Order: sequence, then structure tokens, then C-alpha cells
Amino acid sequence: MCGIVGYIGTRNAQGVLLKGLSRLEYRGYDSAGVAIIESRKLNLVKRQGKLRILADVLKDDPSKGTIGIGHTRWATHGVPSDTNAHPHLDCTGKIAVVHNGIIENYLDLKKILLKEGHKFVSETDTEIISHLIEKYYKGNLETAVSRTVKLLKGSYAIAAVHSLEPDKVVGARCDSPLIVGLGEGENFMASDVPAVLDFTKEVIYLDNHEIIVLTRSGVTIKDYDGRTISKKSSTIKWDIKQAEKSGYEHFMLKEIYEQGDIVSNMLDERLRAGKISFEELAIKASAFKRFKKIAIVACGTAYHAGLTGKYILEEYVRIPCWVDTSSEFRYRNPIVDKDTLFIVISQSGETADSLAALREAKRRGAVTLGICNAVGSSIARESDGVIYTHAGPEIAVASTKAYTAQLAILYLLTFYLGKLRGAISPPKMKKLIAEFKRAPELMNELISEYKDPYNNIAAYASEFKRYYYEKHNKSYFLYLGRNINYPNALEGALKLKEISYISAEGYPAGEMKHGPIALIDENPWVVCIATQAKTYDKMLSNIQEIKARSGIVIALVTEGDKEIQHHNVNYVIEIPKIDELFSPLLVVIPLQLLAYYVAKKFGYDIDQPRNLAKSVTVE
Ligand code: M6R
Repeated sequence: MCGIVGYIGTRNAQGVLLKGLSRLEYRGYDSAGVAIIESRKLNLVKRQGKLRILADVLKDDPSKGTIGIGHTRWATHGVPSDTNAHPHLDCTGKIAVVHNGIIENYLDLKKILLKEGHKFVSETDTEIISHLIEKYYKGNLETAVSRTVKLLKGSYAIAAVHSLEPDKVVGARCDSPLIVGLGEGENFMASDVPAVLDFTKEVIYLDNHEIIVLTRSGVTIKDYDGRTISKKSSTIKWDIKQAEKSGYEHFMLKEIYEQGDIVSNMLDERLRAGKISFEELAIKASAFKRFKKIAIVACGTAYHAGLTGKYILEEYVRIPCWVDTSSEFRYRNPIVDKDTLFIVISQSGETADSLAALREAKRRGAVTLGICNAVGSSIARESDGVIYTHAGPEIAVASTKAYTAQLAILYLLTFYLGKLRGAISPPKMKKLIAEFKRAPELMNELISEYKDPYNNIAAYASEFKRYYYEKHNKSYFLYLGRNINYPNALEGALKLKEISYISAEGYPAGEMKHGPIALIDENPWVVCIATQAKTYDKMLSNIQEIKARSGIVIALVTEGDKEIQHHNVNYVIEIPKIDELFSPLLVVIPLQLLAYYVAKKFGYDIDQPRNLAKSVTVE
């Protein structure tokens, strides 16, 4: 959701802000803007549409200032337009503000400000912030921001500048991420690390209710009562090159291709002499021994990883486990207590609902464990313990590599807990690990088959498009899976709808007769995950039932499957043979590629699909 950047230094601020915003565009891309101070005047330029539109405008009339703020927007209040784009100004035109989050009491505050004579031009909640700063401004921006933030309810990360104070950028955060980048004679603030990585690797993660002042020579951090806070900086270990396309047409494809190596590196890092190690984990082994239940919460793709986690944790640790979407968890009255291990899974570590669920679980006394990709993120910092997936920056909005990395961590965690609690014997453990170690190579084998642009999935996507347009002018997908691959049915459907805008539903195959079968005629395409020995015959029966009603079937089967040819399926995708426990790691790859190639055939913006943002930091 929205990306903000602030800069002060000696470089051309316009260049720094545009670079930073380009690294944050995954957070929102319906409009963008910058406000740069030049000769004690604000130079404000903002445009509806992608960042490149703003960049083109700025190219024609570049600003020379060395201090400024910038924003890339994901609209919450007010349609995407030039006027609603950030930064927002006060009545004097001297104060500019960028904001990520939602100000829940903005209408009440706006009423007061209107009565006091302030003039509003946009429909946004953000604009009240610039007017409040104006109201409290008595020659010191920091003081005015500090008075303003105390009145705000909701979530925000803000950056503000005043044209008459060209020596400082002021920021504050509450429930929306904000980091500081430390340079030599220059400093930065941003919603996320990639925005500053072209310039510095030294960052400070801000916590809630902190106000920062950036000057050229330093950074001060205070709490809302004005007390100075001293914080250590961290050095970012990954390189900005990892957040680049490196010759790929889309980040999504690059990230799909990275999956085998990510799991391989993870096993190298986490397995030492047959032992599983989670070095960063602050929860003691003794604590893991006493839990009576496990609760998992997450959103979207991370939720699907959590669902798979339930299957494996219950099977190998023999502890009851339930899984909830974070938004549902936080508004019910769940039975979570000190006997609960509460696991929150999040790529970004900033998802608002997951963060709120984590806080609720802590309040109820659970021991909390975050499984996060983004190092230093809010969920990582607020959980009692964290395990990082180390999948590298995921830029495409549709999550792929973060998912397989989350699955891989869940396998390791399961085996770790199973061993610790005596549910997995040493010989069994040895066998499990040996089979797990085969997975990355098989993932890479599968991926390399699909590096040929004329692969069968690309061809199926082509046929789908032709079929979709020529015959029915409308079609949709149903994804069926069973047991440990049921979550993959949900994930396949989610990937497709996110980037191709085609209706898709994931279902446990056994439930087909309880409703979805009514949809089957010659129109929908049904993706059947039929790789598992345990439920293979049942899935074949499902396939027969679909074919008997003229449905079009894509069957995912295990390599060498001779049976499927007798079932009249329309398309077949083969998955390398592995113990079915680990099959989700492989099965999901063709599902991701199917979504990718369908979206590509339709010519959609794969990495930045409409209406979505990578990190959902508002409720
Ligand atoms: O950063 P998180 O893992 O917490 O994000 C959760 C979801 O927003 C995310 O998985 C979303 O569903 C993706 N766009 C899926 O591709």
C-alpha cells in the first residue's frame, strides 16, 4: 500500500526520489508525485498513472533541489487522479505531506478544519494532515508534526517538509512501516528498504509512535512525548540487484524460476549435520515442548502455506492445529492462550490484519512465532521469535517464491518440533530429511522444462484464450485438489484471478459434488491435481464426473503415470516423482506458470495487476 520516500542531502532530490519510488512501485501504482524544495519554494508535481508518467513530466522541467518527499499511491480515499495524488499541501502551499495508511477520524478533523477556514482540494484523508501541521506551525516543523500526530487515529507513515525549513524532513509512524537510510552528508526515509538500497545499506527500523527528523548531518528519533530515542542501525545483507529483473520479461517469471535455488540454499543454511537449526529464533526449545495446540494465521498466499502447514504439523507433530485468515481471527473470540503456539506467516511482515492478529494473540498470552521474508519487518520484530524464509526481495505482486519458501520452512519447523517432542523417531527423521533434500533439484528440473517458451503450459494458455474468445466469450477455472494439495488448488486459483482477472475457484475435490459440479458444462476448465497415491483413485472419479458433463480437464499427474491416458482428459502436466509429503513444492510451479502464461496471452500487466498492492498495510 502506498510507498513514501524522503530525502535530504547534496544529490539532486528528484533523481533520488524517482529511483526510490521506482523501487517501491510494487506497493501501489495508481498515481505518483514529488514535492521538492528549491530556493525556499515547493516544487510540487503529481500525476495519475504509473511512475513513468510522472518521470516523463519531470524530465521536461527538472527540479534542482536537494531535499524533497515522494509518493506512489494505492488509492483508499478518493479515486486515482492528479488531485488526489500525494503530496498534499496546506493552504499556504508551504507544507507538503506524503502518507501511507488510513486516517480513520479524518472526517471529524476535517469538519473542525473547515470551520476554521481551511480549504481542501482533494477527497483524501491525507490532506487533513497538511492542514493540521499548518494549524500548529509556529516556525518549527517537528513541533507541528508532533502536535498533529497525537490527533490522528488509524495507521500512518508520513513524511513532511516545509519550504521555509529546507534543512529537514520530518516523519512519523503508527502501524505503517517506515525506515531510515543513513548516508554520508545525506539521509533518507522510506516505506521499505529497497527504496534506499541504491544509496546506502545502513538502515534503522522505526517503531510505532516515533518521530524522526532527517537533516544532512544526522537523524534524531523521538517518542511522541519528545524524549530522544537511541536506536542501532542494521546493515542490509542483500543486494539491490536481487530486486531487479535481470533480463526477465517479468519479475513474476524470475521469481518462479528462483524457487528451486531458494529451497536449496535454505536446506544448506538450516541443516547442519542432519540437525535443523533456526539460529535467529529466540524461543527456547523447552517452550516448544509444552504447547498443546498450534494456531496459524496469515492472509492470501501465506494463508495457503499455513493450510498446508496444518496437514504436516498434525501428521508429524501430532498437535491439534487450526488455521485462520488474519482478518477473521481478529474479529472472533478464538481460544488462544499460553498453551498455544501462535504462528503468523507473512512475506512482507507488514500485513495490517496479520500484525493485528499477532498483537491479539500476544494479548491472550500465546507464544508467537513469525515466519517472515522481510528482515526487520514489524511482524518479525513484534513476534516472540522469528524464522526468516530468506527468499530475497519478492517484487511481483503475485507471490510465488515466498510461498514455496514458507512451505519449506513449515516442513523444517514440523520436523524440528516432531523431533523435539518425540513424535518423529531418529530413523524416520533421517528418511524425511533425505527425501526433502531431493526437492530443490526436482523443482529446478521441472522449472528448466518450462524455460522453453513453447512449453505445453504456454500452449494450453493459448488454447484457453482461443476457446475463451471464440466459443464462449467467457470462461473460468475450477481448481480441485485433495489433502496436502488442496491448499495448492486454492493457490492456483488465487494466482490466476490476481493476474488474469479470470474467475477461478479452488475447491477440495471431495466437495465437488456438494455444489461446484453444478457449474460443469463445456465451459469451465477444471485443473485436477492428481499426483497423490493416497487420493489418486478418488481424483480419477472426480475427473470422470467432470468429463461425463463435458468439462475440460487439465490433469497434474506424477511423471510416468500410465493410467491418466484412459480418462479422456484434455491436457496433462507431469510432475517429477517425490514422496507425496513434499509434492506441494512441485505441484505449485505449473500452477504459477499457468496463471503467468494465461495473463501473458491476454496482455495484462503481470507484475502490477490492477487494484492490488504487494503489501496490504491497511485493514
Ligand atoms: O506479505 P504477506 O505475505 O502478509 O501478504 C499476504 C497477502 O497479501 C499476499 O499473499 C497476497 O495474497 C498476494 N498478492 C498473493 O499473490
